[in-house]
Amino acid sequence: MASSPAPRPFGTTKDGAAVQLYTLTNRNGMKAEITNYGATVVRLLVPDRAGKLDDVVLGFPSLDGYTSDAFRKSNPYFGAIVGRFGNRIAHAAFTLQGKTYQLAANNTPGDLPCSLHGGLKGFDQVVWEAKQVKRNGADCLQMRYVSKSGEEGYPGNLRVTVSFSLTPDNGLKIHYSATTDQATPVNLTHHGYFNLKGEGNGDILGHQLTLQASRFTPVDKGLIPTGELRPVKGGPFDFLAAHTIGERILAQDEQLGFGQGYDHNWVLDRKKRGLTLAATVEEPTSGRRMEVFTTEPGIQFYAGNFLDGTLVGKAGQAYPRRSGFCLETQHYPDSPNQPQFPSTILWPGRVYRTTTVYRFSAK
Ligand code: BGC
Repeated sequence: MASSPAPRPFGTTKDGAAVQLYTLTNRNGMKAEITNYGATVVRLLVPDRAGKLDDVVLGFPSLDGYTSDAFRKSNPYFGAIVGRFGNRIAHAAFTLQGKTYQLAANNTPGDLPCSLHGGLKGFDQVVWEAKQVKRNGADCLQMRYVSKSGEEGYPGNLRVTVSFSLTPDNGLKIHYSATTDQATPVNLTHHGYFNLKGEGNGDILGHQLTLQASRFTPVDKGLIPTGELRPVKGGPFDFLAAHTIGERILAQDEQLGFGQGYDHNWVLDRKKRGLTLAATVEEPTSGRRMEVFTTEPGIQFYAGNFLDGTLVGKAGQAYPRRSGFCLETQHYPDSPNQPQFPSTILWPGRVYRTTTVYRFSAK
């Protein structure tokens, strides 16, 4: 089998580190381009029903877009791996083994401070060490990062590996693993914004979404889960059967008000451990379909409510409100403060392992 193409220069960080853009392809022509800045998926080319490839993720043509002041200010985390803790931690603090850890409060929905996506400089903004390897005969891009004890306020030296590969059936497979030398919360996720019509090609309101979830975790006005696992049945959060994203997004509903649209964690109906179907999205004009499989207990469906048209993407098009959606496989938000939720604590001697596959087809 041919070896992976050589990486191309993608830019230089403000600290002077050169970062690269790596390419993965499969035999169907599916292609992913991933930079070791933030372990970020920059491009993802998948066929429509006529076999035409389009780039279905939001992003920028070079590193400058990801480090620009405009991007940092609104910080939508396009395509990045987020960590050490994806999503929110209430009051930007948690207590573990009797000790309280204070994190930076980098987000204030409803004027309530919290920690979001790992803090001021999360895993989305660090340079990962990349290695192109073979796994079962397939090309695999392995990204490693060592998060030092105390970084962003978290305890323990955390060694993280995130591996990207393309499956023969057009899946982008992301495997996460981590070890630590002190107990610490860990919740890693991929923050891709998808538009199955092609990035820069309008909004995502006509995409049809199904979520394998009978319950979700309602939030307070600070977007922190109240602790309740609320049945979705019949309401605007019910995606057990397919609905377009736009159908009920403007409904008078307190939860939709807090999120300014969908920005919530769904509790997956898991019948067994292992990789299970969590979500299906179909886009009628292109015929593209994306299925999300994961080993995680939850999924954050975020409808791109906070995009505002100020960022201009790869094709030179502005990204308006709801021009991309995220399906972030994860443990529930604020788990370190909510002992009734599945635990996000990684202990020394244990290995954190999760897998998510975004699989594409067309009809
Ligand atoms: C959160 C949103 C946030 C977005 C970008 C999502 O994971 O749920 O509330 O605005 O990330 O930061």
